[in-house]
Amino acid sequence: MSVRERTQVGIVGAGPAGLLLGHLLTQAGIDNVVLEARDRAYVEQRVRAGVLEQPTVDVLRACGVGSRLDLEGLRHTGVELQFDGGRHRLALDELTGGDAITVYGQQEVVKDLIAARTGPLEFSVSDVAVDGFDGDAPTIRYVREDGEAAALACDLIAGCDGFHGITRGAVADAITVFERVYPFAWLGVLAQVAPSSEELIYCRSERGFALHSMRSPEVTRLYLQVPPDETIDGWSDDRIWTELRERLHVRDGSWELQDGPIFDKGVTPMRSFVAEPMRHGRLFLAGDAAHIVPPTGAKGMNLAVHDVVVLARAAEAFLARGDASGLDGYSETCLRRVWRAQHFSWWMTSMFHNPPEQDPFESQLQRSQLHWVTSTRTGGAALAENYVGLPHG
Ligand code: APR
Ligand code: PHB
Repeated sequence: MSVRERTQVGIVGAGPAGLLLGHLLTQAGIDNVVLEARDRAYVEQRVRAGVLEQPTVDVLRACGVGSRLDLEGLRHTGVELQFDGGRHRLALDELTGGDAITVYGQQEVVKDLIAARTGPLEFSVSDVAVDGFDGDAPTIRYVREDGEAAALACDLIAGCDGFHGITRGAVADAITVFERVYPFAWLGVLAQVAPSSEELIYCRSERGFALHSMRSPEVTRLYLQVPPDETIDGWSDDRIWTELRERLHVRDGSWELQDGPIFDKGVTPMRSFVAEPMRHGRLFLAGDAAHIVPPTGAKGMNLAVHDVVVLARAAEAFLARGDASGLDGYSETCLRRVWRAQHFSWWMTSMFHNPPEQDPFESQLQRSQLHWVTSTRTGGAALAENYVGLPHG
């Protein structure tokens, strides 16, 4: 025997996609339930990306979860690009008519959305399975934290369960996958030290890519390109700082990297992935469940936000007014932005990373692209417009 319940939208996954979707639906008066495999502490503490596009900031503010973001988020009107030991600042605001990025950790967005949640949100559920979405009686079956089996009847199901979730697997036969795995990974660290630069630094060097980012005035976030199968074991804190200094070194010696205690380290693979279409009857994939971008463009969470903004509007039109046009257009609308972000992320990745085999021709192409971006208004604007985020449609 399992407990039977009903809601309008059943949401699998409490990452940024699932939580924001739930929030937007609740505000629109649409019933929803969010089901999450992990516990609350885990989802609130998981370290992920930290760059919010302008449209993402606008969405979070407009739906009432922007107050801590406004206090603690770091608005950056520029970004530094480094190659051949020289640094070049792109003025994002000037190149885009006033837009900027905001540095605010993904887990902070997650915490704010959980704090704002008024509807049902179940953590630590297991054995989640979806069925019936080809007809008009979709159901999510799962086991509650206390071991009780449950069946949640829904009008619509949102698969917001990330890249390793189960919803995409439920439509494996019906999707086309586009994929690229890159021959390198990122080693990322968090360090208890004030950032050494006010803005992010994306750096191409002969020793590979490095990125200087931050989380707060007291915490620096840094990344190094490493081989794809790299394990963290070989990377002592000393080795990490030495390698960062080598790569981020500027020719005229005018800059120094400050170090401090490292309190988090990890290696992230680099992948581009798209599963099309994003709609299967009454099942809608959103966020990382449908697509992954390499982190170089800082687009992952921003794409998840766009997907669920489109989905929330479409679900409301359907459930409140019987208008299915938004749901019908969901996949196409989202995929247009997804592919723009895929191209941008691939472009940023290919400009800054060293291929494992030395390729002198490609090196010159990378330099040429970086010269164009940093020395012409058109080149700079192309990067800036994509980086701060094109307006939501
Ligand atoms: N049942 C319930 N929840 C699940 C299941 C499952 N079977 N499988 C996974 N989940 C949960 C995960 O534990 C996670 O909390 O779904 C959530 C998915 O969240 P994210 O992985 O953060 O994905 P999404 O919300 O789409 O956000 C995309 O995450 O990986 C980053 O760079 C990416 O910033 C982007 C963002
Ligand atoms: C981060 O701060 O984690 C970060 C910043 C920029 C990126 C990726 C990650 O492109």
